[in-house]
Amino acid sequence: MTTPHDPGQAAANAPSDPLGPIAASEGAPGSGDPAVLAMQESARRHLWLHFTRMSSYADGEVPVIVRGSGQYVYDQKGKRYLDGLAGLFVSQIGHGRKEVAEAGAQQGSELAYFPLWSYAHPRAIELAERLATLAPGDLNRVFFTTSGSEAVESAWKLAKQYFKTIGEPGRYKVLSRDIAYHGTSMGALAITGLPSIKEPFEPLPAGGVRVPNTNFYRAPGFVADDLEGFGRWAADEIERAILREGPESVAAVFLEPVQNSGGCFPPPPGYFARVREICDRYGVILVSDEVICAFGRLGYYFGSERYHYQPDIITFAKGVTSGYSPLGGMLVSDRLMEPFSSGTATFLHGVTFAGHPVSSAVALANLDVFEQEDLLGNVRANEATFRTTLEKLYDLPIVGDVRGDGYFYGIELVKDKATRETFSDDESERLLRGFLSQALFDAGLICRADDRGDPVIQLAPPLTCGPEHFTEMEQILRSVLTEAWSRI
Ligand SMILES: Cc1ncc(COP(=O)(O)O)c(C=O)c1O
Repeated sequence: MTTPHDPGQAAANAPSDPLGPIAASEGAPGSGDPAVLAMQESARRHLWLHFTRMSSYADGEVPVIVRGSGQYVYDQKGKRYLDGLAGLFVSQIGHGRKEVAEAGAQQGSELAYFPLWSYAHPRAIELAERLATLAPGDLNRVFFTTSGSEAVESAWKLAKQYFKTIGEPGRYKVLSRDIAYHGTSMGALAITGLPSIKEPFEPLPAGGVRVPNTNFYRAPGFVADDLEGFGRWAADEIERAILREGPESVAAVFLEPVQNSGGCFPPPPGYFARVREICDRYGVILVSDEVICAFGRLGYYFGSERYHYQPDIITFAKGVTSGYSPLGGMLVSDRLMEPFSSGTATFLHGVTFAGHPVSSAVALANLDVFEQEDLLGNVRANEATFRTTLEKLYDLPIVGDVRGDGYFYGIELVKDKATRETFSDDESERLLRGFLSQALFDAGLICRADDRGDPVIQLAPPLTCGPEHFTEMEQILRSVLTEAWSRI
């Protein structure tokens, strides 16, 4: 896997900045500045970056981002970058919002910490009520965590304990889609469908079962020209998997509204309605993993609203605080809560920092910004322009597919547009790791070049972005992708 800032060998060959000199606020330190050098050395010596080939920094600079403002972030040397990935699908309201930071500081001085084990605190109560009000249908109960992986892990554990509690102890399996990412803790990793990041940790907890994803660009031949037929087939594969495994052994299906990994696969029309029917038919819990897709990414508070389906559980994290403090959780239906509402039944699960008071206060302030600035309205008003701006890139020979919804897009890169031939592993390695990631970063765009499925570039900018930011993204991508093509 590549990261947005994996430095490859080609930094020196990166194209010149299409926007002119981006950088350099007055008096910003240069590469030779002692403070910059010291921080670089310290980072190389002590910091372990996630999902990152650390060896690639042996001779190259570690990208150090020091501050953010609105849709942009700045590195140690004052160079500006358009944050086309909202950090990591997180910074919905953009960077540098003092009112949100101050809400956290205020809460820290009032009550910095108290657990949600047996006790409650006001901000967690207020936030739980607010999320329940925003969530679709009867999702009225919030179980907080600190991250998306913990949220996914919690949903699987709840599904298992729920079925044991209601007398169906055989149900423990979970279905999820090919190459979908659902997190990295052992349980979440068993649900994740990316073989390459699972393999070093096998054996994982038993029960993860894969079903096809909704990548229409790579649909099987018999439905390649029929989007709805493809959706029916992909949903029916879930039914076939349930029957194959034995319905009495299946606890839950985990699906993102738009699958991130692989490069933004929206659901075909009718897909989720059919999945809902199938889950109801076999008594299987439908978990909508909205760690990325909630909080405006698709123009709604929850992705399931956009595609009109009712989940039994929604998992969330990231955008709930726009990253001003970590928080995750799951919204659970009254039906699943019911066996735990009376008698001695207890959901035997918890983590120390779940629903942290500072994070809860920050989440409330974040949601205030959503309302005050009508961020959902901004996404809905501008998403068509985002799409058409990115679709201009279709005139490049390397751009095979532009797909997504809301402010969440993937651009699939191909070797041959007509045949949709993808790159070999070696070409992918040279193209993405060796050139694209670094060149896009050098050109001032933070986005993600990913080849865990077919090679894609992903964009998920802050929800405050507008047409001028889309144009900036398109121009940088055009320049860098043109250069990439000339190197193949
Ligand atoms: C859909 C989905 N689920 C779960 C996770 C895991 O979240 P975290 O990294 O906060 O543990 C992610 C992270 O990107 C995700 O995209």
